[in-house]
Amino acid sequence: MKENLVQLLSKYIQTLEKEEIDKLLEVPKKVEMGDYAFPCFRLAKEYKKAPQMIANEIAEQIGEVDFLSKVEVQGGYINFFVDKNLFAKKIVEQVSAKDFGSSHMGDGQTICMDYSSPNVAKNFHVGHLRTTIIGNSLYKIFSKLGYHVERINHLGDWGTQFGKLIVAYKKWGNKEEIEKDGVSALMKIYVKFHDEAEKDDSLNDEAREWFTKMEQGNDEALAIWEWFKEISLKEYMRIYDLLGVSFDSFNGESFYRDMTAEVVKVLEDKNLLVESDGAKIVPLDEYDMAPCLVTKKDGSSIYATRDLAALLYRHKTYNFTKCLYVTGLEQQLHFKQVFKVIELLGFEWYKGLHHIPYGLVSLKEGKMSTRKGQVIFAEDIVNEAIQRIREIIEEKNPDLENKEEVARMVGVGAIIFNDLYNQRIKDVIFSWDKILNFDGETGPYVQYTHARASSVLRKAGVIEVNGEIDYSVLTDDASMALLKELSRFPQVIVDASDKFEPFVVARYSVAVAQAFNKFYHDCQINVDDERVKMARLKLVILTKKVIKDALELLGIGAPEQM
Ligand code: ARG
Repeated sequence: MKENLVQLLSKYIQTLEKEEIDKLLEVPKKVEMGDYAFPCFRLAKEYKKAPQMIANEIAEQIGEVDFLSKVEVQGGYINFFVDKNLFAKKIVEQVSAKDFGSSHMGDGQTICMDYSSPNVAKNFHVGHLRTTIIGNSLYKIFSKLGYHVERINHLGDWGTQFGKLIVAYKKWGNKEEIEKDGVSALMKIYVKFHDEAEKDDSLNDEAREWFTKMEQGNDEALAIWEWFKEISLKEYMRIYDLLGVSFDSFNGESFYRDMTAEVVKVLEDKNLLVESDGAKIVPLDEYDMAPCLVTKKDGSSIYATRDLAALLYRHKTYNFTKCLYVTGLEQQLHFKQVFKVIELLGFEWYKGLHHIPYGLVSLKEGKMSTRKGQVIFAEDIVNEAIQRIREIIEEKNPDLENKEEVARMVGVGAIIFNDLYNQRIKDVIFSWDKILNFDGETGPYVQYTHARASSVLRKAGVIEVNGEIDYSVLTDDASMALLKELSRFPQVIVDASDKFEPFVVARYSVAVAQAFNKFYHDCQINVDDERVKMARLKLVILTKKVIKDALELLGIGAPEQM
């Protein structure tokens, strides 16, 4: 509507750009002043007339317009009264479109999304849970806008720590125990390695030797390493299955191990490498950054080298327009350095590289069950959420169909929603009472609203409303407010993608749920008058669809019944 108005006004006001008209057009506080008001004070100078006179003249020129029921002048303002029937009709038609919310803005473009990326043989902690959840949501948001998204799990599966782990395994490891306990057993021997190495430095030499063997392709070393990886991935896959997350590529750091020589060569060709104490670095002090270390004294590569190799590879393979990295804030400098090196190499595509950091997750102590000591396993949290929902269902709705599936959707949904409800950079405080509250601004609340809409339709025995709709039924305040919310969805998705911020969608889903619950409270749906009933049911159908789609963008399921 606003767009229509801007269009209309621009025909009669030559001295202002459309953007300026758009900025000036306001929504009056009082209903008597219409749905939109345009102040003419700014025009007084150029028109050399009183604002009121200008307003009168423009209003006269506008005359009758199909989507406006009235145009009125008050003071220096032109007040526009929108034809509510027409407004309702327009929105209902828009929202009914099969691909409502989708767009083609990303057609033909590829985005590489690097997220989750846990470290092999280390636990998948709540931080990794966040990158997984944020990355998955951004993947869905960009896909909705037509982009092709390559979901990349850049596993931390290479580096000197694996030399240590091999030594630890050979000295204190037990195959059966590791097969049984998985990552926590690996972590246990890794910790032991560090304790012992404090007393006996020769262990570190041994570890270095084993990592060198890995780099040289020694069969025994690689077989043990592969096995560590297998054990770890089995565990990570369980979490991904619970969350409903998948990837296109698991090419982790090890995938690039033979491409690091190429990185060194490219950097040398551009004269960017400098020797420093036997190591090779790219100095970045000109840009107020510590140098980017490329090879260590012993010639081995590091995390950054493999990220540089990965970028060259990804650009060649996917020809991406953007490559996004979702990790904790503590890696900000690392990515700044890597991106700067790409820029210094003269690759214009450095402009498409973005680090997408997020804040810490803190847990209210004592409330979380943990497997061992202080280490929090993400899997335990997810399972506990599901278990808690299971108990709530047993208590409140024991006859529910697909109990197990609903418990998973709601338990997982609660965790995802909590991670996505605020700006990424904000720290997240995790409390069971908060995330499982069905009345708060939570996943379960939005899901419950969706289930409520489903139940209204079930009771009415209606799946779709196809015939003529009497739009005048939908012109009351609550219905209008709900329609306005629904119509915002496409813009919300674009905003979320611009800022790489799923929270925009999460907040929106709550706003729609709230508007629906107000409508549900104010407007009786299942009434005898078919005309009223059908119009309202149509609104229920559309709300259900938009909530489901919005939750889908967050990576959350929408149960029909709860
Ligand atoms: N493995 C790293 C970690 O757990 C995250 C990797 C992020 N991706 C990358 N290309 N560096 O902290």
